[in-house]
Amino acid sequence: MKNVFIETSRVMEFREAVSVVADTRKGQPGLMLAWGLAGRGKTMAAKEYTVQSEAAIYVRVHENWTPRAMLSGICREINGMQPSRVELAKQIIIEELDRSPRVILIDEADRLMIGNIEHLRDIHDETGTPIVLIGEPSIYGRVTARRRIYERVTRVVEFGAVKTEDVVIFGMKACDLKIAPDAAIALAKNCEGSFRLLYHIMIELERSARANKVKDITLELVENLPNRRIAPTPEKERR
Ligand SMILES: Nc1ncnc2c1ncn2[C@@H]1O[C@H](COP(=O)(O)OP(=O)(O)OP(=O)(O)O)[C@@H](O)[C@H]1O
Ligand SMILES: [Mg+2]
Repeated sequence: MKNVFIETSRVMEFREAVSVVADTRKGQPGLMLAWGLAGRGKTMAAKEYTVQSEAAIYVRVHENWTPRAMLSGICREINGMQPSRVELAKQIIIEELDRSPRVILIDEADRLMIGNIEHLRDIHDETGTPIVLIGEPSIYGRVTARRRIYERVTRVVEFGAVKTEDVVIFGMKACDLKIAPDAAIALAKNCEGSFRLLYHIMIELERSARANKVKDITLELVENLPNRRIAPTPEKERR
């Protein structure tokens, strides 16, 4: 399996939306939400954007992050410093962003405590920095519950389920396999919309195709793939 990045319609929509919020004039609202279930490709899309755009900063939220840890983490990405005091870290971030505008992408933002989101709002308000909050669907409820934050959101992008066309392109680019339309529909269903699960299924498919010496993937081949994630068998009752 080759390491490939697929330009899915979600990826393109995400990139276009980030570019729009990044263009918003200083002082105008410019927060963005990108949400979707596990494995839908949010992190891949965000990291890819950061690689392509020099002005973008990628930060991944850690569990139980305090404001100090978050601001220090953002500061480190901006200029390598890790101030230990909240106010100092915030001041340095604001000065750096005023000097050199960036876009901040915050991954796993559904883990952010509301106090941290308020710190991000301050940074956004004071510098006009576009901030993209990326996370599981619960981020949506958390942000909409705070009107002052939700009013600043100008774009929302949903990372929906993997599409049949993504399956076909992924099979071709990552494994050199030509997947028949009905087989692609079955794979899209079996991966439950998750790119991560699709990746694991594709490894099995590649193995099976090699064993059968074929490059064309049929529905029959897909249906005969072993299930490596079977649920526990209920134990028989003891007599
Ligand atoms: N655009 C893509 N091209 C190729 N592979 C992808 C793409 N998007 C996702 N994948 C595959 O799916 C896996 C999961 O993607 P990713 O980590 O981006 O999901 P996520 O939405 O961030 O999930 P989580 O909510 O669990 O963090 C990746 O490790 C990769 O194997
Ligand atoms: Mg992720």
